[in-house]
Amino acid sequence: MKDVSDKKFFGTLSQKELLKLYATHVNSPKVRFFKGAGIGVIPGKRWGVKINTLEGQKPTDPPMELYNCHTCGGVYNLGHGNRKIVQTLKDALDSGLDIGDHLQLSEWRAILGKKLAELMPPGITKTTFGVSGGEAVDTAIKFSRAYTKRKKCISAIGGYHGHTGFALATGDPDFKENFLWNLSDFKQVPFGDGDALKKTISDDVACVILETIPATGGVLIAQEGYFSEVRELCDDHGVMMIIDEVQVGLGRTGHFWAIYGGLYEKEKVIPDFMVLGKGMSAGIYPISTCSYKPFIEKAVFKDDPFIHISTTGGSDLGCVVACEMLDIQSDPEFLNHVIEMGKLFSSGLEEIAEDNSELIKEVRGRGLMWGMEFTNETLGQLAMLSIIKEGVLQNYCGNKKDTLIMMPPLVVQEEEIEEIIKKIGEGVKKIKHLA
Ligand SMILES: Cc1ncc(COP(=O)(O)O)c(C=O)c1O
Repeated sequence: MKDVSDKKFFGTLSQKELLKLYATHVNSPKVRFFKGAGIGVIPGKRWGVKINTLEGQKPTDPPMELYNCHTCGGVYNLGHGNRKIVQTLKDALDSGLDIGDHLQLSEWRAILGKKLAELMPPGITKTTFGVSGGEAVDTAIKFSRAYTKRKKCISAIGGYHGHTGFALATGDPDFKENFLWNLSDFKQVPFGDGDALKKTISDDVACVILETIPATGGVLIAQEGYFSEVRELCDDHGVMMIIDEVQVGLGRTGHFWAIYGGLYEKEKVIPDFMVLGKGMSAGIYPISTCSYKPFIEKAVFKDDPFIHISTTGGSDLGCVVACEMLDIQSDPEFLNHVIEMGKLFSSGLEEIAEDNSELIKEVRGRGLMWGMEFTNETLGQLAMLSIIKEGVLQNYCGNKKDTLIMMPPLVVQEEEIEEIIKKIGEGVKKIKHLA
């Protein structure tokens, strides 16, 4: 990468100046949080599977080099600055392509729609585009209501689908109360509990929305058969089944979808809606998608094709980037790499858990998405900080703070996994005396 761009775009402010400006003009509680945590994690230059922080933990320390195992929940599935994606975007910009006009037809929305239909579980052939995951979730719930003419929605306790309107309403009370958004039509049930869903679902429910592996909820793995039961219950009551694979789709499990063979190879459940975001951007240009079965279209757009629109959702440039990303990530060789790296990563994490059984309760996950559950929340949070100090960025799950979620870029290589595991082991060792 050229040096000139470094000077123009990274380190234009000292950390001290940045914290002051951020607190004054953006979000002062966030600045207080990071200062309190005592870690200088302000991302600076980034490349491949790593990021540099602007400065060290103390201003006198050199910048830290961190492996990015947070990846913003899969935004950086292809690492930072994937050359193929960057080149595609540059070419598109040079050729004069731009956001496009959402009121017109778009060749790139058509091309991406077709590509998604070919990759989706069978029968999911239509796509409506957005910018963020929350927007795509809102779209799925909105369309479910239009189709069923019902208002109710069931989601999982601890699940997370975004902070926008309907998406926020599906979430835990902590996120909603401040905004007076506890809507009576939105109910939550424990994840993985078919009986609880059976008791709650009824003929006046519009949709059930679930992440295949709830990420914010603690990287939870449902027992085999759970999603088939959800499908059956939805069918029995005429309820739409929405699957949110914003984090776990696009190859994260080593299979392209988690719901359709990624969680359990033989359990191939087909939802009515599939929602994607984050990694659709390849970390370069935001785009999200809400894909669905075609029978839903008529109920939504019956009188007015403009009844649902989004100015920058499904921009031409975003579609070009997403098409390139899908070509890379759906390649069987790419998926096989995820499976192989996942085996290495998970066996490394298992070993750390065995050596520290007084601290770590369980390691669980699939492919390159793993949760490490500590015996309590304090240990989980301290482990997160300790591992960052060793050089691996990851975080605790927002709705289950005893569990660290680790999602290396899918392009991570064997030697990098080995180094990451070594650093995680060191970080855990440093808090062992606190158990
Ligand atoms: C599973 C899941 N769904 C939806 C969202 C919302 O995505 P966004 O932040 O792009 O609105 C998130 C964000 O973290 C997520 O993890």
